[in-house]
Amino acid sequence: MPVLSVLPALLYFIVVPVLLVLSHPNISPCRLTQTTALCNGCKLSTVPQNLPQQTEELFLNHNSILALQSGCLLRYPALRLFSCANNSLTTVEGDAFSGSALIENLNLANNQLHNGHKGLAQSLRSLTRLRTLDLSSNGLTEDMASYVLQNLTSLEFLYLSGNFLLRLDESTFKDLHQLKELNLDRNLLFEIDGAFDHLKKLQRLNLAFNSLPCLVQFEMTQLVVLNASHNRIEWFITNPDLPETFQLETLDLSDNQLLFFPFLPSHSRIKTLLLSNNHIGFYGHLADNSSSNWTDSVEYYNMGKNASNITVEIWDEGLTGDISTVELLDLSGNQLRSFPEGFLQKMPRLYWLRLRRNCLESLSLTVQDMPETLYELDVSDNRLTELHAQPSSANKLNNLTHLNLSLNDIQVLPPRVFTTLPSLSSVDLSYNSVGVCPSRDVSDSDAQVCAVWSNLSSLKQLYIAGCSVRSLSPSVFEGTPLTHLELSNNPDLAVDQNCLSSLVGSLQHLGLSNTGLQNFDFSPYRHLKFLNISNNSIWELPKSLISLNLKLLDLRNNMLSTIQSEDATVLAQRVRAVYVNGNAFNCCQLEWYRMFEESKALHAVDLSEVTCIDLHQRRRKAMLFNSLECGGQSTEESIIWYILLFLSVGVSLVGISIIYFLTFRQKLLPHAIKKRCWRPTSY
Ligand SMILES: *[C@@H]1O[C@H](CO)[C@@H](O)[C@H](O)[C@H]1NC(C)=O
Ligand SMILES: *[C@@H]1O[C@H](CO)[C@@H](O)[C@H](O)[C@H]1NC(C)=O
Ligand SMILES: *[C@@H]1O[C@H](CO)[C@@H](O)[C@H](O)[C@H]1NC(C)=O
Ligand SMILES: *[C@@H]1O[C@H](CO)[C@@H](O)[C@H](O)[C@H]1NC(C)=O
Ligand SMILES: *[C@@H]1O[C@H](CO)[C@@H](O)[C@H](O)[C@H]1NC(C)=O
Ligand SMILES: *[C@@H]1O[C@H](CO)[C@@H](O)[C@H](O)[C@H]1NC(C)=O
Ligand SMILES: *[C@@H]1O[C@H](CO)[C@@H](O)[C@H](O)[C@H]1NC(C)=O
Ligand SMILES: *[C@@H]1O[C@H](CO)[C@@H](O)[C@H](O)[C@H]1NC(C)=O
Ligand SMILES: *[C@@H]1O[C@H](CO)[C@@H](O)[C@H](O)[C@H]1NC(C)=O
Ligand SMILES: *[C@@H]1O[C@H](CO)[C@@H](O)[C@H](O)[C@H]1NC(C)=O
Ligand SMILES: *[C@@H]1O[C@H](CO)[C@@H](O)[C@H](O)[C@H]1NC(C)=O
Ligand SMILES: *[C@@H]1O[C@H](CO)[C@@H](O)[C@H](O)[C@H]1NC(C)=O
Repeated sequence: MPVLSVLPALLYFIVVPVLLVLSHPNISPCRLTQTTALCNGCKLSTVPQNLPQQTEELFLNHNSILALQSGCLLRYPALRLFSCANNSLTTVEGDAFSGSALIENLNLANNQLHNGHKGLAQSLRSLTRLRTLDLSSNGLTEDMASYVLQNLTSLEFLYLSGNFLLRLDESTFKDLHQLKELNLDRNLLFEIDGAFDHLKKLQRLNLAFNSLPCLVQFEMTQLVVLNASHNRIEWFITNPDLPETFQLETLDLSDNQLLFFPFLPSHSRIKTLLLSNNHIGFYGHLADNSSSNWTDSVEYYNMGKNASNITVEIWDEGLTGDISTVELLDLSGNQLRSFPEGFLQKMPRLYWLRLRRNCLESLSLTVQDMPETLYELDVSDNRLTELHAQPSSANKLNNLTHLNLSLNDIQVLPPRVFTTLPSLSSVDLSYNSVGVCPSRDVSDSDAQVCAVWSNLSSLKQLYIAGCSVRSLSPSVFEGTPLTHLELSNNPDLAVDQNCLSSLVGSLQHLGLSNTGLQNFDFSPYRHLKFLNISNNSIWELPKSLISLNLKLLDLRNNMLSTIQSEDATVLAQRVRAVYVNGNAFNCCQLEWYRMFEESKALHAVDLSEVTCIDLHQRRRKAMLFNSLECGGQSTEESIIWYILLFLSVGVSLVGISIIYFLTFRQKLLPHAIKKRCWRPTSY
């Protein structure tokens, strides 16, 4: 066939597909599902015009659209949701939304609309059904914001976080009568002057991460959630003259500078009260002294000429307001030395009480001093020296399940205090000087500070790290089905084979770091999943570990010089995570290292940091160590050397014997000749 006759066919096959592609330039990168078009991250620079006309939800987040021009949405009259966040919008033209009167939800967050706020304001006027508007992170000041928000009377949810709002007053949100939720977090607010007074439907208000110095005359009775965390608030004072019940359920004032417990409404429904990281204390004991000079009113000035006087009896601890519905109280990281008489009893529904990092000196685990409902109590990192308990016959804290007393200095404690808590499931008593009572015959008047851990049928997790425990007798955990036991940092502890024998059937998590452990038979502990034997003096990997199905094994800071290849093989298959650094590994016996490196099942967390000791007693990075430096030390090579040595000895032996044989032969030869010669021959 002549070449010329093939050409048209070739042309057809090449050109037609190209033309087909060119004639459909609108092939859309968007994902369509029913009436939703998802065009997020499609590198678009304009609103696509080729989507179905009945599209109701259009997502254009993470593109590079600079402007929304007039008529750009005309094609989509059914639009209810339009999201154009994370673009580089600087302009929204005045009639950009003119044909989209049905839009209810508009998200323009993370753009640059500060300069174009006038056009934006005008464009929003046509959205008479707008309920949700997100203008977060657009560089807006309060004047721009109040301009944009004018007449948006239908708005219910407004997000303005991460802008440059400094101060709010009555005019800022004046038309937003329907507003239910307002997020103003991460602005620069230092003053709020009547800005929320007319927002009668507002239920959720977020003011977190601003610079507010106080919240006084609080009177938003309809508010359900108020978040004012991460400000500089020194005072929170409710207007005391309001008899109504506040709807407030969640109040977050954490990370502020409160000196006093907040002055809460006298009737409220508050359930969650978050006050961590302030300077709160109770000072009633100071106020009793009549000689005291201290003022008892707080003056509050705003930026205008108006100064108001708010008088509260700051020393009167009865005036904390209504806390009877509180379920969660977080007072971690404050200055509490004690509670006023009966304070905790004012919260008969309290389940979670968090008092970490305060200055409490004593604690009473009795229903006289604690709400009976208490479920979780964290008093870690305080100055507790005394712990009091219920007399055994009386009512108990029946619901107390999690108790954290770590990092204190407990010196007085009834040994059987934990047996009075029938639901107790986890106790952290680490870093106190409380030993473990040798179970039998403990009298409550025992001088020794120790706790009884036997026959606690609900207890699952026990943490007694750093408690100077010296010995454990075999029956101490009898009748207590622990799954977790943390004994680390008790360096004088003699862990012998028997002392944990009652836990053989239950233990899953065992911490024995820094306990002077040398060898231990782990094989009976068949349920063990997590084992920490770091910081001990282990010379050789205990063989009993190989039979377990561990998930995590911490072997750091021991004296291991190698891990036998056969053990390494099993570990690499069974264990999920292992820590090995800080041992005295021999650089010339790193077969295990390669196995761990290659294993897919095992994650050797610190493998890249592992060091080893080379022939010259220097510490080297195992990862960078070149095994050739070991020279003849490697086992395969030494076998060759043995063979060579054997061979050379053998060869020389053979040589010697040949020489010997030959020299002997020399003497024999003439003899034979002589013999022959002697023989009479018949020549
Ligand atoms: C915009 O980007 C930020 C940061 O990448 C991200 O946190 C946010 O969720 C994005 N917003 C939307 C609506 O995609
Ligand atoms: C807001 O509405 C009022 C009354 O309907 C009107 O007079 C005013 O011009 C509107 N403001 C803007 C900025 O559109
Ligand atoms: C308060 O707001 C901050 C920042 O938005 C957030 O991290 C925190 O979880 C909020 N608190 C509550 C109780 O929702
Ligand atoms: C108040 O009086 C008590 C003894 O009654 C005393 O210990 C305390 O230091 C006094 N406080 C002040 C602030 O004077
Ligand atoms: C009361 O205040 C005055 C002035 O601040 C001070 O000089 C005086 O010592 C104070 N008195 C007492 C009892 O603290
Ligand atoms: C000061 O506040 C009062 C009521 O709180 C108000 O009537 C008065 O107009 C305010 N004065 C100024 C100058 O703002
Ligand atoms: C606040 O009250 C105190 C005492 O009642 C008074 O001396 C002071 O002048 C008042 N301040 C203002 C701004 O009203
Ligand atoms: C115990 O505390 C839990 C909180 O997790 C709560 O749901 C439960 O109602 C409490 N029980 C009693 C009897 O207070
Ligand atoms: C107890 O509190 C300490 C310090 O506050 C913390 O590190 C530890 O994890 C807590 N224990 C438990 C069991 O949660
Ligand atoms: C645990 O309780 C049983 C029976 O209630 C008792 O026989 C045993 O001695 C107790 N064990 C310890 C260590 O107190
Ligand atoms: C093992 O115990 C030590 C001491 O308590 C601790 O520092 C280390 O993080 C633990 N290892 C793992 C893997 O949790
Ligand atoms: C474990 O030992 C290492 C090195 O000896 C030391 O730096 C570390 O603090 C120890 N860790 C504990 C929890 O004792």
